[in-house]
Amino acid sequence: MIEIGADGRTWLLSGPTSSYALRLTDRDELLHLHWGPRIALADAEALAAAPTPPERPFESWLDGREEYPVEGGPRFTRPALSVRGGGVRGTEWRFLRWAEGDDDELQLHFTDAVHGLQVTLSYRMRGDVVERCAVLINQAPEGSPELEVLRVDSATWTLPLRERWRLSQLHGRWAAESRLVRSQLTYGERVIGSRRGHTGHQHLPWVALDADGATEERGEVYSCALAWSGSWRISVHQLPDGAVQITGGSGHDDSGQTLLPPGTATATPVFAGLWSDGGFGGASRAWHAYQRAHVIPDADEVRPVLYNSWEATGFDISEEQQRALAGRAAALGVELFVVDDAWFGARVSDRAGLGDWTPNPDRFPGGLKPLADEVHALGMRFGIWVEPEMVNADSDLYRAHPDWVQHHPGRARTEFRNQLVLNLARPDVQNYLWEQLDALLSSAPVDYVKWDFNRCFSDPGWPGEPYPQRLWDGHVHAFYDLVDRLRAAHPGVAFESCSGGGGRIDLGVLARTDQVWTSDNTDPLDRLAIQHGFSQIHPARVMAAWVTDSPNTQLNDRVSSLRFRFVSALAGVLGVGGDLTRWSDDELAEARGWVELYKEIRPVVQLGELYRLRDPDGGLCAVQYVLGDDAVVLAWLPAQAYGQEPAPVRLRGLDPAGVYACRETGEEHRGAVLLHHGLRTGLRGDLDAAVFRLRRIADAADITEAYSGLAQS
Ligand code: GLA
Repeated sequence: MIEIGADGRTWLLSGPTSSYALRLTDRDELLHLHWGPRIALADAEALAAAPTPPERPFESWLDGREEYPVEGGPRFTRPALSVRGGGVRGTEWRFLRWAEGDDDELQLHFTDAVHGLQVTLSYRMRGDVVERCAVLINQAPEGSPELEVLRVDSATWTLPLRERWRLSQLHGRWAAESRLVRSQLTYGERVIGSRRGHTGHQHLPWVALDADGATEERGEVYSCALAWSGSWRISVHQLPDGAVQITGGSGHDDSGQTLLPPGTATATPVFAGLWSDGGFGGASRAWHAYQRAHVIPDADEVRPVLYNSWEATGFDISEEQQRALAGRAAALGVELFVVDDAWFGARVSDRAGLGDWTPNPDRFPGGLKPLADEVHALGMRFGIWVEPEMVNADSDLYRAHPDWVQHHPGRARTEFRNQLVLNLARPDVQNYLWEQLDALLSSAPVDYVKWDFNRCFSDPGWPGEPYPQRLWDGHVHAFYDLVDRLRAAHPGVAFESCSGGGGRIDLGVLARTDQVWTSDNTDPLDRLAIQHGFSQIHPARVMAAWVTDSPNTQLNDRVSSLRFRFVSALAGVLGVGGDLTRWSDDELAEARGWVELYKEIRPVVQLGELYRLRDPDGGLCAVQYVLGDDAVVLAWLPAQAYGQEPAPVRLRGLDPAGVYACRETGEEHRGAVLLHHGLRTGLRGDLDAAVFRLRRIADAADITEAYSGLAQS
């Protein structure tokens, strides 16, 4: 809902529980007024009428108060917009008009007369999430010089003045992604981002800030997330007077630079912001609901249980072996069988074949169709792995087009994992990939594509192309276009985003993929922390989690029970990735039981509301999902100390006036008791885990009445 003040210079956007307000001054400065609980227009107008801070010689009256600080004039904070043209640097805008776009979008249009530049700031409430972005249009007459856009951020978020802001972020590296850390904010800037060409394992593009010691279930939390899958930057800035602003957008350093010729436009990705007063848990649930409703395709459909042999077989695959695994996977109840790397070209190791997207004739003499048909006959869907943005030097593609990779003339072409990055900004590369992938998806009944990206940009050059080369953002747009086009042409195919595990997870890629590969780390204990971080922003509905072999020879040789591995993976979209030919009959039978159980709890896990009951800090860890009358609790005990029984876990999101039956124990529990006194898990020893399925079966009042009736009779 958008409301406008009487003089047409105050705007108030409201969601179910929150509001966002801004004000245009007489000098056309766009000031931030409010972001927080729902307020009325009169409240916003009262904020607008508040006296402005006194002008002081070394302070700007605008810093820390503006919606979108541009470079130029009395501003000393990090600018969201920096342009130059015709020998003039910076922006001095006049307000043009406001307009309402589709779906309650508020557009504010400004113009800079010297540059002939129109700047449009866009706001849209989706639930309580505010989506913001900026559009630049060069309106200078044809023949005028191009405008240099040095930086255009999507948005700047302004927080209310408070003491002691705390920053939460999700940091990591390969096999250790999305780990949550909190730290006190202090004066100056904290900058996170990626210089790598993809979102990166190092940070999810998300930050959360709280000032008054928010907890999991209580307190105000401000959080922001960027919808972009290339290099990016988010800066959290605490100014000398304590004001805090968060500025973010695509590109890091100068990698976002572009030239804007007259008559052209450029739009930023969305930078979304959420205010919540339900603590970190409430913020996560609001982000999950937003993504399910507005970002993730077909999010109300549950994802199938998959099998993938990558950890079991590596590059050593054959059609016969995959058939054998498919038979075993089907017997477990798996619904989607995915052939990972090494089915194509000369790809028998990571040294060759990337770029040649036709089945390896020795391994799949009849192409992929015979295997796909068999997988379908077994009642499963069929999926394949691809890594289209990359090429091995030892490939037909590279031999034919060595100039198609990112490189600088006369410089070394750096290889990681023996591969080079194709320059997707080139139209000929885009056409090649479209033709190859479209033909591949037409050649066999493929239902699922695991799309990988296994190295960072290191030589981002485009010989012959004048600077600034739009190679960084051009790559991301081409990747998005390719996936969008393939989805449109092959509507039955689902896509997974993978980048050596969780190197490409963000709201931009989630708008066009059905699930993501959370991490190459499938150790069930490490996963608890990775999943805990992931769940701060993204829902279980997209979080792929596999059960692999024990000991975990890929990573740490840790030995864990099938139970612990399964319960860890039940927290997301379940997959199995072990060598099923080596699992005993007992293990296969147990696994069949877990898959069956998962299918039963899957709607609650994938589509329900998540409550993090206990953090993975070494003691008992537990999460809970609630959907309607059903609740599922997953609990893990890494190591029991002193023979002591872990304290019961207090549940959340239940009806205190309800009675809940537990499938596992056969016990009935009163909601009020579960909420306050908790559920005993009975976990003991090392690496123990359990699932509890609870269903609301009655009103506590009815039962109490029945009991009192019994007592009276
Ligand atoms: C990446 C992925 C793995 C697997 C390999 C194949 O590392 O994260 O799951 O697909 O590539 O080469």
